Amino acid sequence: MTLLEGRVDDLSHDGRGVVRVDGKVFFVEGALPGEWVSFVRQKRSRKHEIGRLEQIVERSPDRVEPPCEYFGTCGGCAIQHLSSEGQVAFKQNTLLENLERIGGVRPEVLLEPVVGPISGYRRKARLGIRHVPKKGGVLVGFRERHKSYITSLDHCLALHPDVSGLLRPLHELVSKLSCHTRLPQIEVACGDAHIALVFRHLEPLNDEDNGWLKRFADDHNVDIYLQSGGLDTVIPLNPGSERTLSYCLPEYDVSIAFQPTDFVQVNGDVNRMMVNRAIELVEPGADDVILELFCGIGNFSLPLARHAGRVIAAEANVEMVSRATA
Ligand SMILES: C[S@@+](CC[C@H](N)C(=O)[O-])C[C@H]1O[C@@H](n2cnc3c(N)ncnc32)[C@H](O)[C@@H]1O
Repeated sequence: MTLLEGRVDDLSHDGRGVVRVDGKVFFVEGALPGEWVSFVRQKRSRKHEIGRLEQIVERSPDRVEPPCEYFGTCGGCAIQHLSSEGQVAFKQNTLLENLERIGGVRPEVLLEPVVGPISGYRRKARLGIRHVPKKGGVLVGFRERHKSYITSLDHCLALHPDVSGLLRPLHELVSKLSCHTRLPQIEVACGDAHIALVFRHLEPLNDEDNGWLKRFADDHNVDIYLQSGGLDTVIPLNPGSERTLSYCLPEYDVSIAFQPTDFVQVNGDVNRMMVNRAIELVEPGADDVILELFCGIGNFSLPLARHAGRVIAAEANVEMVSRATA
C-alpha cells in the first residue's frame, strides 16, 4: 500500500484531520491541524477519501494523551487527543465557519467562550445495547466510531459520575432480561435530583423482566420508563411513582421541569453560564418585549421572563411548550 504524507490543515466536523495531497482531500482519523502525518488510503468515496494514520511525523503542541481508555474505539468522544483549549477553539471555528457559509454573516465582536468541567458533565445520552455471543454476551455502551458496533463500557469519563456508575449494573441487568436481544437502546436523562432511564423494547416485556427492572429502579434510586415505539409511547414502568426531572437556574430562581426524552442542553454547568451570559447581554427590562425562537422547554425564555415585560417564545414541539412553565 502506498504511504502518503501531508500537512493537516483542518479538522472535519467529526474530528478527523483534513490533509490535501495532489488536489485530493483525505480525512485522517487521529491527525490534528498543523501536524505532518503519513497515512495510507483506506477508503474512497465520491466526495473525499479516508486515510488511516500511520505515523505522526511532526506533532501538534495541542496534542494530549487521551484520558479515556476507550478513546479511539468508542464513538462517544471524537477529539480527546486535542487539549481542552484546542477543543473549544475547534468548536468556535466550526460555528464561525457555519455562520459564514450558511448564514453569510460574520460576528463583529467575539466574546471569550464559555467553558466548564471537561469530565463528568454529560447529563443526556443514548446507550446502545447489542447481544454479541462472540464478545461474551450483552454489550452496553456507545456506538463505535463510524461503525454500528457497540463499545462495551464499564465507566465513562464524559457521563455524569452517577450515570457512569450505573454502566456495570446496567450491563448485569440487561444480561438477566429474557428480551435482551430485543432491547436496542437505553436513553439516559439526569435531573439535578435523580436519573431517568428509558428502555426501548421491540417486544413486550414479561413479568420476570418487569420484576428485574423494578428491583433495579429501587436498588439504584432511578426512575425507569418503557418505550415500545415512537416517542409518544414512553410510559413509566411504575405509573404514579415517577418523579419529575428538573434542573435549576439559581440566579433566576427558575426550576425547569423536563421529560426524559425532551431536549435539554447536554452540559448543565455550561448551560447555566450560557444562560447567564445571554441574559447579561440582553439586559431584559420591564418595558421590553423579547422574542425567543426555538425555545424548547423554556431554557432561556423562563429566566428572561423574570426581568422582561413580556417574552414571546416560539417552539415547534407543542408538548415542550406545554411544559415550559416554572
Ligand atoms: C437545540 S433545541 C434548543 C431548545 C432551548 N432553546 C434550549 O436551550 O434548551 C432547539 C429547539 O428548536 C425547536 N425547533 C426546531 N425547528 C423549529 C422550527 N422550525 N420552528 C420552531 N421550533 C423549532 C426544536 O423542537 C427544539 O426544541
